[in-house]
Amino acid sequence: MSMKFDLKQFINPVFVETGTFHGGGVKAALNAGFDKILTLEVFAPLVEENSVRFEKEIEHKKVQIIHGDSGFVLKPTIQEVSSNITFWLDAHIQSMNGGGEGSERCPIVAELEQILATRKEKKDIILIDDMRLIENRSAGWSVNLNEMYRLIWEINPSYVLKRIDGHIPYDVLCCIPGDYAL
Ligand SMILES: C[S@@+](CC[C@H](N)C(=O)[O-])C[C@H]1O[C@@H](n2cnc3c(N)ncnc32)[C@H](O)[C@@H]1O
Repeated sequence: MSMKFDLKQFINPVFVETGTFHGGGVKAALNAGFDKILTLEVFAPLVEENSVRFEKEIEHKKVQIIHGDSGFVLKPTIQEVSSNITFWLDAHIQSMNGGGEGSERCPIVAELEQILATRKEKKDIILIDDMRLIENRSAGWSVNLNEMYRLIWEINPSYVLKRIDGHIPYDVLCCIPGDYAL
């Protein structure tokens, strides 16, 4: 949720976010200078809230809010995108905290499967938030970590992985194409 890093270092033409919540990621992406922002949210009241918040940007086709479960709607959202994407994968259960939940508490594996099906060996950047909870069995998110990393490497074997600060230190996993200049 918290982007305690400079998103500009991960710039690409398109930013794709799973889990819009109150629009903090959209705002950060606008400030960083992405040309186009696609954000997916499962909880209808948040889709409505952000449709009002970003009314002007939506009208100018800079921001698009997609209502749906990212475990299913990511693939149709990204398959027509021809330019490189920076993914901010941040969808997870938030129903105790003013958000919603989809068919899984944390749909990261289903999201990566859809990225693999549509974006194999493209030079996309993938940022995965909340590693403290993804890796913590007692959080009950039931993420299959082996499968998560297998999918990452299959999407792009050149990925260099590094951890940067999010909500807590090293909470964001960055997957950067080998030849991406940082
Ligand atoms: C941590 S918040 C996202 C914060 C936001 N990305 C930011 O940077 O400010 C998680 C959001 O994911 C949403 N969510 C939960 N499961 C989802 C799913 N399967 N598909 C899409 N959105 C989901 C929740 O309703 C909540 O708004």
